[in-house]
Amino acid sequence: MNDLSALPADFVWGAATAAYQIEGAVDEDGRAPSIWDTFSHTPGKVAGGDTGDVACDHYHRWPEDLELMKALGLDAYRFSVAWPRILPEGSGAVNAAGLAFYDRLVDALLEAGITPNATLYHWDLPQAQQDRGGWPERETAERFGEYAAVVAGALGDRVKDWATLNEPLCSAWIGHLEGTMAPGWTDLTAAVRASYHLHVGHGLAVRALRAAHGDLRIGIVNNLSPCEPATGGEADVAAARRADGHTNRWWLDPIHGRGYPQDMVELYGVDLPVRDGDLEAIAAPLDWLGLNYYFRQVVADDPAGPAPYARAVRLPGVRRTAMDWEIHAAGLEKLLVRLTEEYGARRIMVTENGSAFDDVVGEDGRVDDPERVGYLEEHLAACARAAARGVPLAGYFAWSLLDNFEWAYGYDKRFGLVHVDYRTQRRTVKSSGRRYAELAAAHRRRVRPAA
Ligand code: FCB
Repeated sequence: MNDLSALPADFVWGAATAAYQIEGAVDEDGRAPSIWDTFSHTPGKVAGGDTGDVACDHYHRWPEDLELMKALGLDAYRFSVAWPRILPEGSGAVNAAGLAFYDRLVDALLEAGITPNATLYHWDLPQAQQDRGGWPERETAERFGEYAAVVAGALGDRVKDWATLNEPLCSAWIGHLEGTMAPGWTDLTAAVRASYHLHVGHGLAVRALRAAHGDLRIGIVNNLSPCEPATGGEADVAAARRADGHTNRWWLDPIHGRGYPQDMVELYGVDLPVRDGDLEAIAAPLDWLGLNYYFRQVVADDPAGPAPYARAVRLPGVRRTAMDWEIHAAGLEKLLVRLTEEYGARRIMVTENGSAFDDVVGEDGRVDDPERVGYLEEHLAACARAAARGVPLAGYFAWSLLDNFEWAYGYDKRFGLVHVDYRTQRRTVKSSGRRYAELAAAHRRRVRPAA
């Protein structure tokens, strides 16, 4: 059953989105293209030829979306700021109209009693910056630090919770090695350099945020997966260790001052362009860690495959979402405990967790999504078990507030607590959204009975 009683009294119940996935209005008020505009407009890159041109039209409909957040009783809202709205050329002139959008949103959130949690980079690099080399080049890290200073200067008086990067793993490995996300490269050297400069950019952004306001709570959001061997055989066990290095340790060790894992440096065989002071900057102290959790990896040795030479094995007889991702809530508990025990985390937020299913709008106009309700309950129960084991878990952000543009999968994969009819832009709270609101309300009643 769902015993959530171990969640702390001030547990934050939130929902998350990302700029390119919901905003639309890609050429309004001075926004310039990002690498995702380029990628999605390249034939064959996104399912169905979908793009983020309109998405959920949140840029215009945000007041309605704010009403939905209120109806769900959210404590906090995690959104990302679109770099190409603020600095359309990547650097240089600040676009005041772009900043004004987030300014209005933040004021309205605060007015509604909803805490804003802003992510500076959720994959939408200005195309102009890509044209100057993108993340494989150090210049992009430096420009990111400058962009962070601009945004923190404008919003940091009111937004106190900040994340620098969302899932740098995806930017580096999926964007530059696997090639199925923007910018769509398949080059190990570029991917490793991108991973390094993402971290340098993170460090510079932390510095800029701290300099802007002394009272910000700053974190980074990583997507992690427990990596398990498909068999007890030595080769598969070693493959799982490599997958763990590629997926988890590469992203956690440097930000915790441990440098890059040596086994992976050797495996990639790419020299890191380290300059004096970089590793210290990358390891700048953080106030919280964001964890995005979707699935575990079960892997087998794959010597002929791409780095890290570990192939995902599809387990039979397990439950899966419409993404074909295994539903495995125990993996969330495991990662939370690992962050605490192995990395000494003092404050963790689950910054994303959620599921896609093939939702249908019923004849009565309702969207009943019992599988998503079950997913949510199981994963929140995993959070509570972790909290009971001493994990300093401060909050949970459901992915996602709205159905949205699911990157290379287009609009086909629906993750929202709220259904979006893309033809009419009509929003409908799903059963899962109502269930989430109920769980949050029940938790508040339990911890603050008199309120
Ligand atoms: C994560 C992304 C998020 C969303 C979910 C399903 O990797 O951060 O934007 O696409 O997956």
